[in-house]
Amino acid sequence: MLEIGGIKAIDLAKKYGTPLCVYDENRLRGRLKEFKDNFRCDEFDTDVIYASKAFNCKAMIRLIDEYDCCLDVVSGGELYTAVKAGYDCSKVFFHGNNKTPAEIQMALQNGVGTIVVDNAMEADELIRQISGTDYKVNVYLRINPGIEAHTHKYIVTAHVDSKFGFSLLDEEEIIETVQKLNQTEGITVEGLHAHIGSQIFDQQAFVEEIRKMFAFASKLKEVYGIDVCGINLGGGFAALYTDEDKPIPVPQVCETILSTCREENEKAGGFIKRILIEPGRSIVAEAGYNLYTIGYIKKTPNKLYAFADGGMADNIRPALYQAKYDAVIAGKEDQPAYADYTIAGKCCESGDILIQSIALPEVKTGDILAMKTTGAYGYSMASHYNKLPLPAVVFAKDGEDREVIARESYDHLISLEK
Ligand code: LLP
Repeated sequence: MLEIGGIKAIDLAKKYGTPLCVYDENRLRGRLKEFKDNFRCDEFDTDVIYASKAFNCKAMIRLIDEYDCCLDVVSGGELYTAVKAGYDCSKVFFHGNNKTPAEIQMALQNGVGTIVVDNAMEADELIRQISGTDYKVNVYLRINPGIEAHTHKYIVTAHVDSKFGFSLLDEEEIIETVQKLNQTEGITVEGLHAHIGSQIFDQQAFVEEIRKMFAFASKLKEVYGIDVCGINLGGGFAALYTDEDKPIPVPQVCETILSTCREENEKAGGFIKRILIEPGRSIVAEAGYNLYTIGYIKKTPNKLYAFADGGMADNIRPALYQAKYDAVIAGKEDQPAYADYTIAGKCCESGDILIQSIALPEVKTGDILAMKTTGAYGYSMASHYNKLPLPAVVFAKDGEDREVIARESYDHLISLEK
């Protein structure tokens, strides 16, 4: 009988209704601790930056704070949530390829510690805004190292025409930008950043990334006399969605990253002092479950459908990335498979299929389907398509549950309409 945080999934569905997002809080905590414990070494200052785009809400940010992680935000909205959660903004890293002038101002006013500058025009805007003020900010320059990690093409970010970052092929622009930033009172260019994709299974991709980043940092120092002391390697660590996935265990990927950094730093003369990583998915994905109530069952010549009371509005990943998920019928885990079902959502779109084919015991109307590993980029990418209210989000831990985001009502849906 599926329990999440010591509570029967069926009971959570009964109490809060469906669709419902549930997090096993101890699994969130376990993963945070695992990253914190393993991503450390004597040679470097290390920090784990949680990429909050994967799941950003006040309760999550408070957990991040509790485990003394830094926070990656990519918008005024994510930053606002951090401020309202009482998070220390000096530990915030502000990302994004098109931060608006208002967002940059908001970052400076709230004392954001680090801005990851994504392009030359953004650098100019930051310089314009900080000049003549007392604000102070660290900068990492986002570099596109031209590494293609083998993952879905929508989530690859480092190919040569990427919208993100400064291409390594355009050295002149990078040098000019760093010099300009460093000459500005209040700005310190601390380091270089790269993020090579998401749901990466191959640790060799990180090794290549590290080599490129260290080689470039060395070149900046030796050829151009520019000193940086930090390297931020981004996120991208895979999660386990189905049995086909073989994510690299956290201790192993941390060890590979740190030992490669040590080697490269030795070769370079030891001038890099700080190494950062930015996991998002790998922290929250596996702790999350989406619970749905099954409505109608429908047989077609080639398929047996079970319809869920949510769908692409609360989890767009299957439709957008052909992402695969595993699921169980809560309370029927021990029953033998009866047939291969197609789990379809309720949105008016043929592509709204949550699971193309899954062997399940006989599914009946009213059953609770629990989709696993939905904790990353599910709620955070949710939409109001078909005017479906956003689900509630619950944290469950040691037999107790607490609602961290309430379910939207129909009134919420029209609350801004004139
Ligand atoms: N750092 C930067 C600069 C990023 O752009 C991202 C993700 C991360 C860190 C965290 O990556 P993670 O560890 O979560 O893989 N919506 C897509 C994923 C988009 C990832 C965007 N950037 C999905 O649902 O698969």
